[in-house]
Amino acid sequence: MSRVTVELANNGYDVLVEPDAITSAGSLLQPFLKNNRAFIITDENVAAALLKELEASLASCGVSVATHVLPAGESTKSWQHLETLSDFLLNKGVERSDTLLALGGGVIGDLTGFVASILKRGCNFIQIPTTLLAQVDSSVGGKTAINSKAGKNLIGAFKQPDFVLIDPNVLDSLPDRELRAGYAEVIKYGLINDADFFAWCEGNSSKLLQRDAEALTYAITKSVAAKAAIVADDEKELTGIRALLNLGHTFGHALEAETGYSSKLVHGEGVAAGIALAFHYSVRRGHCDGVDVQRITEHLKQSELPYSLKSANIRASGETLVGHMLHDKKMSGGTLPFLLANGIGETFLAQDVDLNDVTEFLDQAD
Ligand code: GLY
Repeated sequence: MSRVTVELANNGYDVLVEPDAITSAGSLLQPFLKNNRAFIITDENVAAALLKELEASLASCGVSVATHVLPAGESTKSWQHLETLSDFLLNKGVERSDTLLALGGGVIGDLTGFVASILKRGCNFIQIPTTLLAQVDSSVGGKTAINSKAGKNLIGAFKQPDFVLIDPNVLDSLPDRELRAGYAEVIKYGLINDADFFAWCEGNSSKLLQRDAEALTYAITKSVAAKAAIVADDEKELTGIRALLNLGHTFGHALEAETGYSSKLVHGEGVAAGIALAFHYSVRRGHCDGVDVQRITEHLKQSELPYSLKSANIRASGETLVGHMLHDKKMSGGTLPFLLANGIGETFLAQDVDLNDVTEFLDQAD
């Protein structure tokens, strides 16, 4: 069992990483359930795999439960489901001191967290992430949101959870492709500021991708600790420190946008290709050695993740891809900050990137 504390001035919390934690969720969560009742929010797929176990564990501790099951998929992060979920909770008599349990991946965590930030001007919530991507990224740090016609995650709030309960064994039923996509975010932490962790990934990824509980617990705990340290330094992404977590995301989002955010390239795959492009671009600018890019490319290939435009099946021109970047919510005063690197574990925020140069780079990239 490992515990990471997200140290914040007013609203810090713990993240517990423990194989089989779902089976003892009742006793682990009860201290947070002020009214000895809980509201579980989940989706159809996760409900089929894990809901009974969670409900039984809570019931065995005398906790009463009301459950709302939403459709699975990105379209659930919508105004429509924000309304249906809020109505469900209000009809059940939810109070400010009540706690919502988000049992699911990033979609359920983001929607539930956003509802928790506005319901009765703020109630409690706990994240129980069930995908690797949610376990190592979206369940920690308090970014919550829904999508709108204008784009993804544009309506949201910072709302830190009260606790995060991570059970690496729930990943046993996760499809391989989703596990690999989540792994791209794990690699990211090594590349941001921990070269030793990237070397650990190189040596242990095959065990991890075969769902070895020890390797998963180690990688999830290291990732959560890395994210917690960054969030503690810059909770609301004001100083540029939290922006480091966006390594690979500016290029990656452009690739995802080119596929219409479809299953042709899921988020973690976009991040993987985006990381490779960010490092290649860092070499072009003279920041980084080509040997580092080779190591990263080899590792992405070995992990069956995209490592280039071609391997991500993207054929668009530089102009088209940079056009997608212009819709990025990080655009400020007509420029876009980029996460570049001096080497593995040495990522930095560059504010002086010329988008014409990025266009030329993408036209020449493989
Ligand atoms: N996923 C990036 C962040 O939480 O800031």
